Amino acid sequence: MEENKKLSEIKDFVETAELFLVSQGDYQETLNIVAESALKVSAADRVCLIMKNKKEELMIEVGLPQYDHGICKKITPETGETLLRQVMGGESIVLVTNPCEDRRVAYMRELIMTYGISSILFLPLFFGGESTGILVFDWVDGGKFSKEILEKIKLFGRLASRAIGMEKKRKKDRKKILQDEKLRSLGEHSSQVAHIIRNSLTIIGGFSGRLLNRLTESKFGESKIDSELGETLWGTAKIIDDESKKLERIVNDILTITSLKSPVLEPHNINEFLKEELLRIDSNGLKLRLKLSKQLNGVNMAFDRNMMSICIQDLIRNAGEASASRILIKTKLKAKQREVMISATNDGKKINPYILKDIFSPFVTTKTDGTGLGLAIIQSIVKKHGGNIYVSSGDKTEFTITLPLVKP
Ligand SMILES: Nc1ncnc2c1ncn2[C@@H]1O[C@H](COP(=O)(O)OP(=O)(O)OP(=O)(O)O)[C@@H](O)[C@H]1O
Ligand SMILES: [Mg+2]
Repeated sequence: MEENKKLSEIKDFVETAELFLVSQGDYQETLNIVAESALKVSAADRVCLIMKNKKEELMIEVGLPQYDHGICKKITPETGETLLRQVMGGESIVLVTNPCEDRRVAYMRELIMTYGISSILFLPLFFGGESTGILVFDWVDGGKFSKEILEKIKLFGRLASRAIGMEKKRKKDRKKILQDEKLRSLGEHSSQVAHIIRNSLTIIGGFSGRLLNRLTESKFGESKIDSELGETLWGTAKIIDDESKKLERIVNDILTITSLKSPVLEPHNINEFLKEELLRIDSNGLKLRLKLSKQLNGVNMAFDRNMMSICIQDLIRNAGEASASRILIKTKLKAKQREVMISATNDGKKINPYILKDIFSPFVTTKTDGTGLGLAIIQSIVKKHGGNIYVSSGDKTEFTITLPLVKP
């Protein structure tokens, strides 16, 4: 007899677990199943499922039997908020066996009297170490309530907490996937738009350049154009030419980011590469110094030379634009982590602390003619190599790139 009872209980639990599995993908359905199963497992007369919403408010999500609960109602101090939050914070079941006298449930005195509620049990739900909600069970007319039922409810609580928690997480993941998808398609569209704009700009730039050349060559006054009109025309053509070139640069930068291909990984020695890069740079008065790790001499690693060149050139250009007088470029082998560090340290203006955390985001700039795309491109290139880039700015500004030591 005893064995039959145990078997039927196990069957009940397996069925509940099955129901939770079936409801996957539908948050509200999972809540309904939790409440229905809770009613069955506990043999209670009423069950109410209260969940925390995004704003951390407590909301009645499901009530069974449905007609006597205020579904979608927010729990207020008048409807037991203090006690419910206490139970959720305490992480353990609270049982009220004499509700008529117990002051903790004074807020529901009317219900207790109307229905003849004899016991109330509060079961907090948890997921990932955080409280997510609470189940409230009521028994009426002295409904018997044994140690066994308590054990069953505890076990059920674990199952329900997990089912709801997983469903909540899935809901969040689905939202993120959708968001990523939106961003990806936005990226694709913006790159198409950038292409169209670039084509038109090339035409505008070409014609404004030709107009500017013609006007520069003509001697106003001697030709059909009088000198005042000639000056005006030249000034206007110059503005069109300058602005179209500026726009072309922005559009090209956007295209570089959105259509950045995978790096072509070929064997190079990082120290040799940096020495050659520095030779090609027009330092414009900025003192460039290299401090290269001897351990890296003769070590070849895989990277895309053209892409890495964009990074180095742009870091140096940024230092120059920050009124730096010197820049030190260092390499270091981090043998244990199997990575190589390349750092660029410059003096000059320090980075505004307000923009420091967003410095690698596109369009973050302090320059009137900057696009704010330089560092975004560098970060994108470094990440495509499986590396990372960090920044610190105080007395000196330092950008540190780490690249995995992938042997070619
Ligand atoms: N080495 C540096 N020293 C001080 N500030 C820097 C340095 N590098 C970047 N910054 C700051 O970071 C901002 C963003 O740099 P980023 O290269 O992304 O864009 P930008 O230089 O403003 O524009 P663009 O690269 O299109 O000319 C700069 O406007 C500047 O304020
Ligand atoms: Mg820049």
